[in-house]
Amino acid sequence: MKSAVFKCSSAKLAQIPRDGLPEFAFIGRSNVGKSSLINMLTARPKLAKVSGTPGKTRLINHFLVDDRWYLVDLPGYGYAKVSKSAKAGFEKLITDYVTRAENLCFLFVLVDSRHEPQAIDLEFISMLGERGVPFGIVFTKCDKQSAAQTTANVVRYRRKLLETWAELPLMFISSSAKKEGRDAILEFIERLLENCHPAESAREE
Ligand code: GTP
Ligand code: MG
Repeated sequence: MKSAVFKCSSAKLAQIPRDGLPEFAFIGRSNVGKSSLINMLTARPKLAKVSGTPGKTRLINHFLVDDRWYLVDLPGYGYAKVSKSAKAGFEKLITDYVTRAENLCFLFVLVDSRHEPQAIDLEFISMLGERGVPFGIVFTKCDKQSAAQTTANVVRYRRKLLETWAELPLMFISSSAKKEGRDAILEFIERLLENCHPAESAREE
């Protein structure tokens, strides 16, 4: 990766870039580490805004990588400390983006590697499955516990998903603090980029 620059923030789907470049997006509960992961992947610690307080990212943020593709930082879901209408607004923005963004190649769903499967994430994952959105799971903050504990939690997650799904999504383990998981995620993206041909229609608009 040679360059990664902020492109734009969008408050609604209609505002996202229309240049037809492939997009790789990051979603998950508020505070799970989406923005930190983007900074770790791009090796630019201040690219996406990070905060210890949940609810930091409030818009769809596009970061252009190598003038060729986008990393997309999304607001988190499940943040309790906002008004009902604000929450509904974020949820609509997230759902609109993940189900209707024409150039979305792949969605990384982040879950905290320390927690057992949470209903809100499982519901979101079910929605993705039903809508046919290509996604994988990233287990974040693995530096906060032993490797054995992370593995045990991943196994638990697999078991939980197999109660509903016949096939398991791809899974990655990451630590933005320790820069773990970077190569696996970037290599995966590179492989998809070779096969990803976003809709021509987006370019003609
Ligand atoms: P919202 O934008 O509010 O939805 O949050 P987010 O998912 O973008 O999380 P963000 O990247 O802002 O990180 C939230 C907090 O977790 C910050 O205090 C980060 O420093 C911390 N954090 C994120 N990733 C890691 C990690 O891999 N390890 C550790 N130890 N802390 C992390
Ligand atoms: Mg964020």
